[in-house]
Amino acid sequence: MPEAREIEKQQRETWERFSAGWIKWDPQVVEMLAPVGQEMIRSLVLAEDGVHLDVASGTGEPGLSIAAQMPRGRVVLTDLSEAMLAGASSKAEKLALRNVEIRVCGVDDLPFNDASFDSVSCRFGFMFFPDIRGAVSELVRVLRPGGRISTAVWAQPDGNAWATLPMGAISAEVELAAPEPDAPGLFRCAAPDSVAAILREAGLHDVAESDVRGSLEVDSGDDYWTMLTEVTAPVVAVLAGVDHATKERIRAATIEKAQAFKTNGRLSLPFHARCVVATR
Ligand SMILES: C[S@@+](CC[C@H](N)C(=O)[O-])C[C@H]1O[C@@H](n2cnc3c(N)ncnc32)[C@H](O)[C@@H]1O
Repeated sequence: MPEAREIEKQQRETWERFSAGWIKWDPQVVEMLAPVGQEMIRSLVLAEDGVHLDVASGTGEPGLSIAAQMPRGRVVLTDLSEAMLAGASSKAEKLALRNVEIRVCGVDDLPFNDASFDSVSCRFGFMFFPDIRGAVSELVRVLRPGGRISTAVWAQPDGNAWATLPMGAISAEVELAAPEPDAPGLFRCAAPDSVAAILREAGLHDVAESDVRGSLEVDSGDDYWTMLTEVTAPVVAVLAGVDHATKERIRAATIEKAQAFKTNGRLSLPFHARCVVATR
């Protein structure tokens, strides 16, 4: 597996490249993932005047929702990718949130003092970190004793048709190398207790997991395919290496499989996420 710095560099480049897609599809992503953000916020028990850190914020969630709930507090959004955070920044402006600060930085080297935050969140970031244990020790360092950390990761693939449909269509056409077990990827943290065990090892207590299920709602198979090709790096990476006819077959198969999830004229593609909360 590549070294930590190399993984971080690859991640930064990938998210910078896909940031325009994430900003374009932000309304769909915000709607899809709102129940996950709500569960994280519920578990954090925020104080209105607290100081909160959101890591791997991307285009801003759940940090911006947290900022809206802490009018007398302060929320710092951080991410490796400046372009993803530019999306968060323009949303903070539109929402007139004055208590938001934005810092471009990796999770392994947070530019903050020890114990400087009352709470920490990280939604769908852990599976991309080069060294999850190292990241957790950095998050624990900046969290004050008694403060809570809440995170969310994707649960097992069989509950996540929104992500597995294209990969199924791809594997019918292309022989894919098995991913290295600890390489960054959507389902790296999917095993029950995997994140919880790391949080316990880091000395955190009252560690609790909760499952959140929901769906990605899109108007049509064509919209679903367009979204996939604008936000999903692994799909785009495979498509870049196949000829036009193969790409068209993968597209048609993905759209056809998606029709099984049609309800009331729209596609409703299920997801299964796992939230984990712990106290320092
Ligand atoms: C799926 S997005 C999640 C964005 C947002 N939290 C959400 O739930 O909508 C993952 C984010 O993790 C960031 N990321 C990946 N590796 C990182 C690292 N080592 N340190 C900080 N952020 C990282 C990426 O730049 C990307 O914005």
